[in-house]
Amino acid sequence: MPGVSLVGSGSACLTVRLTNDDLSQRVDTSDEWISARTGIRQRHIATPQDSLASLATEAAQNALAMADMAAEEIDLIVLATSTPDDLFGTACQVQKALGATRAVAFDLTAACSGFVFALVTASQYIRTGVFKNVIVIGADVLSRWVDWDDRTTCVLFGDGAGAVVLRASERDRLLGFELCSDGTLNHCLNLAYATESADLVKDIAVQKGTFSPITMNGREVYKFAVSRVPEVIEKALFRASLTTADIDWLVLHQANQRILDAVANRLDVPSERVVSNMANHGNTSAASIPLALDEAVRAGKIQPDDVIATAGFGAGLTWGAAIIQWG
Ligand code: COA
Repeated sequence: MPGVSLVGSGSACLTVRLTNDDLSQRVDTSDEWISARTGIRQRHIATPQDSLASLATEAAQNALAMADMAAEEIDLIVLATSTPDDLFGTACQVQKALGATRAVAFDLTAACSGFVFALVTASQYIRTGVFKNVIVIGADVLSRWVDWDDRTTCVLFGDGAGAVVLRASERDRLLGFELCSDGTLNHCLNLAYATESADLVKDIAVQKGTFSPITMNGREVYKFAVSRVPEVIEKALFRASLTTADIDWLVLHQANQRILDAVANRLDVPSERVVSNMANHGNTSAASIPLALDEAVRAGKIQPDDVIATAGFGAGLTWGAAIIQWG
């Protein structure tokens, strides 16, 4: 059975920064409150000229350059996003922009777990021998869907895009994974379609509406994350025949520094082994893990053969972990 190697990472550079002080001009909040409760100091915001496709493409191009792979070599593009430019899917726009003429491309939606779910999904195509070269992108422009007048949610989110290149290899570097969903907790975090009825012809009505801004029960999501994330990482480690002592880097979905600290504490991973870009980016949903990973790789922290425990969690509710070896 072919194995999976992670041979490149990349991210998009968003130049507009929205600081906590900027936000306090709009809602009743402060840098002190936001940084103490979340660890976030600023987030990056897509401009009106950016698109989800343009950010995803930039991240993918940078990952391909690191992997020394041409766009024409890609067999599959999986774009994890909850904020597509087109509800029919945005991955094909990315395929076109990259010039990945041979690739099949599709979107995958699993909110803030999207990158881990996409990584595992894409890996199955490699393991079964169907595809050799795959790009997995996590990209979100949540600023489109945040209620900027709701201080309980708007301070948390930012925009971003990150990507990794996977290649078929002899040794399998996806060492273990575990994916979970619990729809009974769906109401805790939503970006839901608000249906209205519109008369079409006599006796037949159709749905008309739009998506409502993000709503969240912060306390419930917090409790869910600190209990479920350590558990799912331990299950993925078990499948990899590893223990928490084998983790070189913990690369979690960047939701809240307090969640990162609590998970690391529960797993006994020292803080210097926890990758965090919380302060700079906030929660960028499906982008957060590949973005954090890419920054750590480019900073020379993550080295070939390092064991990375990564976990995403969020709306659905969904959560999942993957144990990977870099390079
Ligand atoms: N600025 C100032 N005060 C704020 C505020 C803000 N931006 N947001 C909420 N508050 C206030 C509340 O109104 C409340 O005031 P009250 O005590 O007078 O009612 C107080 O701060 C405490 O609110 P609470 O919701 O209990 O805070 P918290 O410690 O639970 O922190 C979160 C709130 C959202 C930071 C935290 O619950 C969290 O991070 N949850 C997880 C969310 C998450 O990660 N979601 C995405 C998952 S993918």
